[in-house]
Amino acid sequence: MATRTQTKSKTSTQSRSTGRSAAGNKSVTGSRTAPKSSSSSRSKSNKGQNEDMPNSKFHELFVDQLKDIYWAEKNLVKALGKMQKAATSEELAEAIATHQEQTRGQVERLEQVFESIGQTAKAKKCPAMEGLIAEGQEVIEDTEEDSAVRDAGLIICCQKIEHYEIASYGSLRTLAGKMGHEEAVQLLEQTLNEEKETDVLLTQLAESSVNEEAAAE
Ligand SMILES: [Fe+2]
Repeated sequence: MATRTQTKSKTSTQSRSTGRSAAGNKSVTGSRTAPKSSSSSRSKSNKGQNEDMPNSKFHELFVDQLKDIYWAEKNLVKALGKMQKAATSEELAEAIATHQEQTRGQVERLEQVFESIGQTAKAKKCPAMEGLIAEGQEVIEDTEEDSAVRDAGLIICCQKIEHYEIASYGSLRTLAGKMGHEEAVQLLEQTLNEEKETDVLLTQLAESSVNEEAAAE
């Protein structure tokens, strides 16, 4: 079994879009129509755009969902730390550590999204993420230390988390676009691409080595 080294790799929080698609990237509302108010891809301040909201309840929903994912990301930083320590293979531990660092950046990016729409960043408990994190803990408790089966279980948990996030960010990006929050669209899309890349990486890890090793145990 490979010994693990702590990685301190600081990955950029900037988006590195692969253009690849992963499950869940179609948002619930479908449209990605750019806001009609401006042809520019960025705006210095979107604070006044709430006045253009066709439906304030719709905007409330958007902010509420932002609070949900903000709670999810903040709690995920801690949970990923536990999963990273529990991982058996160096490759998985490194992948989780990298995503933990990325997740810290995503928390900050969400704070920028709140700011861009003139809102204070607030977290609201996300029961879905709470449950997914609990599943990760359960896998750690139910599997043997230093086993590939544990890694296979951790990858499943991490991918469930990624798919939840892909669905959330895809929908939030679409809502932001509908409401003309262009800066928020850019920020949410950066995170959406990071989540998709992580999902692809986890699939590669599972298929290239972990599942085979787990089957041989
Ligand atoms: Fe995330």
